[in-house]
Amino acid sequence: MVNREKIATIFGGTGFLGKQIVKELANRGITVKVATRIPESAYFLKPCGEIGQIVPVQCNYSDPCSVRNAVKGSDFVVNCIGILFEKRKHSKFARAHIDIPAMIAKACSDEAVQRFVHISALGCDKSTSKYAKTKLEGESAILTNYPNATILRPSVIFGEDDKFFNMFAEMARFTPFLPLIGGGNTKFQPIYVGDVSEVTLKALTSNDDKYLGKIYQLGGPEIVTFKEIYEKLFKYTGRKRKLVNIPYWVAKIEACFLSFLPKPPLTRDQVESLKSDNIVSDGALDIQLYGIKPKSLDLILPKYLKHYKSGGHLA
Ligand SMILES: NC(=O)c1ccc[n+]([C@@H]2O[C@H](COP(=O)([O-])OP(=O)(O)OC[C@H]3O[C@@H](n4cnc5c(N)ncnc54)[C@H](OP(=O)(O)O)[C@@H]3O)[C@@H](O)[C@H]2O)c1
Repeated sequence: MVNREKIATIFGGTGFLGKQIVKELANRGITVKVATRIPESAYFLKPCGEIGQIVPVQCNYSDPCSVRNAVKGSDFVVNCIGILFEKRKHSKFARAHIDIPAMIAKACSDEAVQRFVHISALGCDKSTSKYAKTKLEGESAILTNYPNATILRPSVIFGEDDKFFNMFAEMARFTPFLPLIGGGNTKFQPIYVGDVSEVTLKALTSNDDKYLGKIYQLGGPEIVTFKEIYEKLFKYTGRKRKLVNIPYWVAKIEACFLSFLPKPPLTRDQVESLKSDNIVSDGALDIQLYGIKPKSLDLILPKYLKHYKSGGHLA
């Protein structure tokens, strides 16, 4: 049943995490405005709700009035905008991770939005990558403009349409070798997209004020190294590949060449981010505080990596 009393605006709602949040809000009967640069790119979400429940809204991030219009009348706002690499004038880290979030937070304040959740990134306070530094600065910009925002810092997110596991599984189809950058010892704590979405919904809809103005670090139930991630990938795709150790400096040179591709699979900045672990810190506010038991890689990966098996998922 549609609860027309509540309205949510999701920025970046066409993306991997954003669309999961849009679907779950719609399942709860909330009217959802998907703020996007290209409304047509959000049309695929409309069948996830009743007629008129999911509404694509064009947003021009060069115009604060456009952002404010997207937020107007909403009870809840979520910002899922983020980029992994820089391209052209309008796709710069500082713009996507600091300027636009600040603009959204200001619009939320001006429009008296009840709850605002911002998606940041785990390790943004530790890594020396430009991605991380701008994510960290974005958090301050958010809290300056909307002190009651809830900030979520997920580790690498996995799920059916993720870019991380799917990219390496796809690479394994075509190459006999996979790169083990910096020895493959960097630690991750991958978290399921459905769990990040559930935390977001709890932060938005809880009557409890305890989530307001806080930063949560979100990790899954296991800590795995890059090498162990490859091992899981091999197990569930049935494609074992040789791992080639590539020192960071060599990976950076390779990344220089790859950066000419429209969607580079590796950038110098990503190599930099691999130098620090991506795990929840001791004593951090974490997913347990939301009463959620995060799902494991072994539960979810087999469901979507089976498509990469030689001969397809029926093999
Ligand atoms: N995926 C992960 O493993 C992971 C891990 C940690 C943190 N995060 C963070 O979680 C958030 C969601 O990640 P995701 O994987 O869902 O990202 P995604 O699939 O790449 O989607 C990001 C969204 O941001 C919008 N966007 C992209 N470039 C933009 C630009 N230059 N200006 C304005 N909007 C732009 C796009 O919306 P439109 O094209 O519709 O405008 C897009 O749908 C991001 O903040 C990301 O940094 C992700």
